[in-house]
Amino acid sequence: MSEFEVVGKIEDFEEGHGRAVPVDGRMVAVFRTGEEWYAIDDLCPHMGASLAEGYVEDNTVTCPWHAWRFCIKDGKWVDNPRTGVDCFEVKIDGDDVLVREREKPTES
Ligand code: FES
Repeated sequence: MSEFEVVGKIEDFEEGHGRAVPVDGRMVAVFRTGEEWYAIDDLCPHMGASLAEGYVEDNTVTCPWHAWRFCIKDGKWVDNPRTGVDCFEVKIDGDDVLVREREKPTES
């Protein structure tokens, strides 16, 4: 399992908006909604837009290019939850925001 990486300070993240940060060589979209923090792959699987630039409402981010919608809690594509983008864990340590890739469930 990957290690947590510091991606910024709490005040760097605006509530209700995404922010793209590098984690382990890829871009991750971090979302802050009230006291909750979520992180998913920033790269939209449709044509590669930054999901951090999308509109956030009710734990869903809408891709800014063609409006595909993803759940910011688990990365699932809202219109077809059998697929989606990778999901990351977020941890707060003092003022620091840390992110690491979430372990993928094993297929059975
Ligand atoms: S690039 Fe995201 S919906 Fe098209």
